[in-house]
Amino acid sequence: MHDVETIVKQRRSANKFLKDVEISEKELTEMFSLTKFAPSAFNLQHTHYVAVTDKDKMNMLYEAAFKQYKVLTASAVIVVLGDLDAYKHVAAMNEGLLNLGVISQQEYDQIVSSTTDFYLNRGESFRHEDAVRNASLSAMQFMLIAKEKGWDTCPMIGYDPDKVRSALNVPDHLVPVMMLTIGKEDTSSQRPRGYRKPVHEFVTFQSF
Ligand SMILES: Cc1cc2nc3c(=O)[nH]c(=O)nc-3n(C[C@H](O)[C@H](O)[C@H](O)COP(=O)(O)O)c2cc1C
Repeated sequence: MHDVETIVKQRRSANKFLKDVEISEKELTEMFSLTKFAPSAFNLQHTHYVAVTDKDKMNMLYEAAFKQYKVLTASAVIVVLGDLDAYKHVAAMNEGLLNLGVISQQEYDQIVSSTTDFYLNRGESFRHEDAVRNASLSAMQFMLIAKEKGWDTCPMIGYDPDKVRSALNVPDHLVPVMMLTIGKEDTSSQRPRGYRKPVHEFVTFQSF
């Protein structure tokens, strides 16, 4: 068990991975079973992951990712998707609390109608932004969990989303947010950590 500070400092975006390292669905499932505790707006859980270990499919993702070498050598490629229609599941997401008596029928109806209105009134671009926002938070959580379990990752935006869609049969209501490659980093070519702004350059207190 590593503390958060150690994990945060040790996580790097892997430049390349050791070849032929397999990751099992069981190991990935363990990581996702912790990833699910990430926060999400109205607890709508907008994120869907497609975890790919099949070599033919990984090759298709390699092509879609402009032949970035790390996609070929990763143990798995995970496509992070954000759900534009997450708000449509607000009733299902709150049913458990209703059945347990944690919230009343009246509170439940109120949550369902106000959350639905929130997303409908703000429109399509908000729903897109919110899908990306929530899926990004979940993906960060996944990367830290992976690191804690001894795996290295790289978040990636360098890919053609249409090619990813067709390779994985992604339905229209899910938007590709990023790709995560995961494996054991080949540290022989690891670069030093990139420059980080000092805190005072990206934080102000009380107002801008
Ligand atoms: C949204 C996002 C997209 C990225 N896309 C790529 C990518 O397509 N290819 C790549 O090699 N690295 C990609 N990176 C990794 C960044 O280059 C890396 O996080 C940054 O240089 C800082 O390095 P570090 O994560 O090791 O601290 C991406 C990172 C983020 C957050």
